Amino acid sequence: MKQAILLLIICFGVFFCTIAEDPYRFYTWEVTYGTRAPLGVPQQVILINNQFPGPPIEAVTNDNIIVNVINQLDEPFLITWHGIKQRRTTWQDGVLGTNCPIPPHTNWTYKFQLKDQIGSYMYYPSTLLHRASGGFGAINIIQRSVISIPYPEPDGDITLLIGDWYTNGYKALQEKLDSGLDLPLPDGLLINGANKTYTFTGQKGKTYKLRVTNVGIATSVNFRIQGHPMTLIEVEGAHSLQEQYESLDIHPGQSIAVLVTLRASVKDYFIVASTRFTKPILTTTGILRYIGSNTPASLPLPVGPTYHIHWSMKQARTIRLNLTANAARPNPQGSFHYGTIKVVRTLVLANAKAQINGKLRYAVNGISYQDPTTPLKLADWFNIPGVFSLNAIKDSPPSLPPVLGVSVFGLTLHDFVEIVFQNTESVTQSWHLDGSSFYVAGYGGGNWTIASRKRYNLADAISRHTVQVYPLGWTAILVSLDNKGMWNLRSQNWSKRYLGQQVYLRVWNDEKSLFTEADIPTNALRCGKALQF
Ligand SMILES: *[C@@H]1O[C@H](CO)[C@@H](O)[C@H](O)[C@H]1NC(C)=O
Ligand SMILES: *[C@@H]1O[C@H](CO)[C@@H](O)[C@H](O)[C@H]1NC(C)=O
Ligand SMILES: *[C@@H]1O[C@H](CO)[C@@H](O)[C@H](O)[C@H]1NC(C)=O
Ligand SMILES: *[C@@H]1O[C@H](CO)[C@@H](O)[C@H](O)[C@H]1NC(C)=O
Ligand SMILES: *[C@@H]1O[C@H](CO)[C@@H](O)[C@H](O)[C@H]1NC(C)=O
Repeated sequence: MKQAILLLIICFGVFFCTIAEDPYRFYTWEVTYGTRAPLGVPQQVILINNQFPGPPIEAVTNDNIIVNVINQLDEPFLITWHGIKQRRTTWQDGVLGTNCPIPPHTNWTYKFQLKDQIGSYMYYPSTLLHRASGGFGAINIIQRSVISIPYPEPDGDITLLIGDWYTNGYKALQEKLDSGLDLPLPDGLLINGANKTYTFTGQKGKTYKLRVTNVGIATSVNFRIQGHPMTLIEVEGAHSLQEQYESLDIHPGQSIAVLVTLRASVKDYFIVASTRFTKPILTTTGILRYIGSNTPASLPLPVGPTYHIHWSMKQARTIRLNLTANAARPNPQGSFHYGTIKVVRTLVLANAKAQINGKLRYAVNGISYQDPTTPLKLADWFNIPGVFSLNAIKDSPPSLPPVLGVSVFGLTLHDFVEIVFQNTESVTQSWHLDGSSFYVAGYGGGNWTIASRKRYNLADAISRHTVQVYPLGWTAILVSLDNKGMWNLRSQNWSKRYLGQQVYLRVWNDEKSLFTEADIPTNALRCGKALQF
């Protein structure tokens, strides 16, 4: 009897059982200020272990990740794991709705499992505008050895972190936003922290996997390689239909992986990233060098699309799920049949640019989000009243002018939900959901109506965690909320998030079980009204 109880305790949380089985990867990351000159002008940046960008996490599905973050900045700090599902725990998400920030000159250890995931992801600071100065890096998760992939094993695996960059540090950018102004156009684009100096060397005849992430804070980019078509294989953890592209649009917060075969003659070629929908267009280049090359890359650069919104939307619709491929588990991605599941709730979320108390703010359904000093999740866990309410925000846009507030949608665990992002601005939006991937059912121009559903892709829409919404248009997603927790749904346009374009989804049921949610970690920091607990 005693033994049986012991067994029960040990294996009660599947979480702890799997922790006992799957490998651990330990990291110690010291976060500091440092000086770099990515655009030729020395400026203060944020380093992790003296690196810019930060070190990559290279892992296998189901690995346990332990990261001891030492905050040597002069401000509270958090890192978030973009697209990492952290099943059964919201406690490690590293946003102010789930965690108290790590105070300056102290450390805190994240512990999470890469549960049932493969693919290309990233991490970055979630606090203030820190990530505008660095602190970001790649998270690459490969499949377990028993899982087959729907393409031949590549000869190399290369990570490209592409993003816009400002020569002003994050504090100057924050001051601008705090004073009521929008950010200007970025000063340039970087590939792996460099302008024009990044070089990737490969061998003729070989095929490489390139993981490309838009780590930028405001700008959509187009990516292409001179003389080399790309075969899309993965989008944020889902195996896509393997279509060929001359160039691909990647919006802030999005990741793709492509295969590139070195079939051209032995010389150097330009890798190009250029901004989309901006005037002027900013461009940066890197180099693809064939081993044995003595010939520099030659101009002109391959041309990309410029302002064309329609081109981008058309391309987006071609990016679809391979229904027969495995993802992290040996069952095909198409086995879920998302198109046949009944939607239990529809949220229509309209973003808005607004003036509140004479200052520039951004809002969602009439509320411009302000972080309470007590993380929502701690308030929820300890039943602390007065931090948030579940009926502050409405399921569809109200007609009243926006106000400041704390927006939390109350949803039930396993709800299948339709979320429509209605863009009321004439610039592209990029929306990200923590904790779950979603199916991108459709994109359209103008205002979404119930009739728009007729145009949804209910068969093989791509599953991803970040999606663009075209100017004055809409994007509809379908999501199965299978991950209990407090999940941030936010603009990946970082100044907009900073100024209020974000909400939280409280995914909940009353059953207390370690099968659905882990207990508060023993090392959880306390702040705000949670200090006394
Ligand atoms: C990027 O580098 C090139 C060449 O080194 C330089 O001409 C260009 O001005 C740089 N871009 C920016 C925005 O500094
Ligand atoms: C801080 O780091 C030390 C080791 O340097 C470690 O023993 C300790 O657990 C860490 N503290 C937290 C809260 O993670
Ligand atoms: C889809 O995945 C299968 C593996 O199940 C693979 O053989 C096939 O080539 C893939 N098809 C496309 C179009 O990507
Ligand atoms: C981000 O927001 C700025 C300010 O509205 C805008 O100029 C830019 O186009 C936006 N970019 C994206 C990709 O949302
Ligand atoms: C979309 O809806 C908004 C708000 O109701 C309205 O002001 C706008 O004119 C509509 N746009 C179109 C293209 O119908």
